Amino acid sequence: MTYETITVEHRDAVTLITLNRPKALNALNSEVLEELISAFAAYEADAGQRCAVLTGSGDKAFAAGADIKEMADKPAADFYNEDFFSRWTSHLVKTTRKPWIAAVNGFALGGGCELAMMADFIIASENAKFGQPEVKLGVAPGMGGSQRLTRAVGKAKAMEMCLTGRMMGAEEAERSGLVARVVPHDTLLDETLKTATAIAAMPPMATVANKEMVNAAFETTLDQGLVMERRIFQILTATEDKAEGMAAFIEKREGQWKGR
Ligand code: HXC
Repeated sequence: MTYETITVEHRDAVTLITLNRPKALNALNSEVLEELISAFAAYEADAGQRCAVLTGSGDKAFAAGADIKEMADKPAADFYNEDFFSRWTSHLVKTTRKPWIAAVNGFALGGGCELAMMADFIIASENAKFGQPEVKLGVAPGMGGSQRLTRAVGKAKAMEMCLTGRMMGAEEAERSGLVARVVPHDTLLDETLKTATAIAAMPPMATVANKEMVNAAFETTLDQGLVMERRIFQILTATEDKAEGMAAFIEKREGQWKGR
């Protein structure tokens, strides 16, 4: 499949998706959304692909936000009737059970920050800058910024960022729990692909189950989450990969996974 606004490459079992509108700092327009939905669906459907990485082209931006030029003249009724932005969460988050990582190489603002936060985790270059500057445009986050940022960094920082539009640098983002790791700018893609390759080599069912469990922590009470965790753990003990994983440990060799 050829795309206009993104590129998709396979690096063994890792799918690398790159936002490719560098002149517009990878701003997210409707075409980008449709192409990302298609690329994520293809990733999800391909059993040979075990982890995905999403990054931005160019040196400056992961994505500088939803495309302001596309939104500027759009009537409010269209935003409402299309339930504008809902398809980002429904397609990229809810229907993607396999893991994916955002490699944030520069500006991640507005929808760009929100898109990065949809990933299972973020690895940031030391040049990364995160922000929710929508207030300056007379609007507010629309793709999860007020909710996911608050869960990630807490009320004080999320509120300050949403009310002032100030950007958070990579070091502060790591300190605040927004990103898993900060790496030197030039090594971002290599480091993220290395991490993705390590995830791709894990037993597939256990990988999806681990992702599901961690995400459940945001949706359930502690008791419900703990019950769900135990049940999934118990189910995994019935898999061939559990038998293989434990045998491989005892026999001091690498496991060979079947994904069942
Ligand atoms: C459309 C954008 C864009 C965006 C940048 N560009 N951000 N186009 N939508 N979100 C375009 C610029 O218009 C410009 O195009 C080119 O990219 C380079 O940007 P510059 O501004 O010249 O670069 P620079 O001076 O380095 O400043 C970088 C920047 C600034 C600080 C990131 O571009 C900026 O503030 N961008 C907007 C960030 C923002 O507000 N994001 C939130 C969007 S709203 P030309 O053609 O002039 O070269 C959102 C959710 C909205 O995401 C929810 C509402 C319902």
